[in-house]
Amino acid sequence: MKNIVLTGFMGTGKTKVGKILSDMLSYRLIDSDSIIEKEQKMSITDIFKEYGEPAFRDIEAHIIKRLSEMENVVISTGGGVVLRESNIENLRKNGVIVCLTASAEAILKRIEKNTDRPLLQVEDPLNRINELLKSREQFYRNADIIINTEGKSPQEIAEEIIEKVRGRLK
Ligand code: S3P
Repeated sequence: MKNIVLTGFMGTGKTKVGKILSDMLSYRLIDSDSIIEKEQKMSITDIFKEYGEPAFRDIEAHIIKRLSEMENVVISTGGGVVLRESNIENLRKNGVIVCLTASAEAILKRIEKNTDRPLLQVEDPLNRINELLKSREQFYRNADIIINTEGKSPQEIAEEIIEKVRGRLK
């Protein structure tokens, strides 16, 4: 069976929804950021700090290529995975791409208290979120299914995904 690949901006609920989804389907949950941290033995924040974003994107692309070869898994990706078209091409070979969306305000509310997202450690995070959303919009749109998460619980979102991917997993 094909994988379900969750894409979307930071704070759209990929990890939470991925957990519920994988439990519901009895699939394994793979979180690309967690794998990067484990294999590099460094936090994402430290990788950005020590090596910079381009190096992080290379590591990410390498991991994504490997994860794309798996089967029967839910893959929760980092918010910037969509920036390289080759990542999505790889993931699509054996997966259905599901993009989770939310407004900049809702995203800020969800991630406000976290300090583990280097791209949002700025004075005006709302402005940064809006800028990034605008520049990434076309890439997030390159998904098989797009789900607006606002006003929905992670459980409801997972159920909606299952309904929409039904028939596409073979
Ligand atoms: C990033 C999103 C993060 C993480 C890194 C970069 C991005 O993942 O990969 O901080 O560029 O949007 P989450 O979407 O899981 O927060």
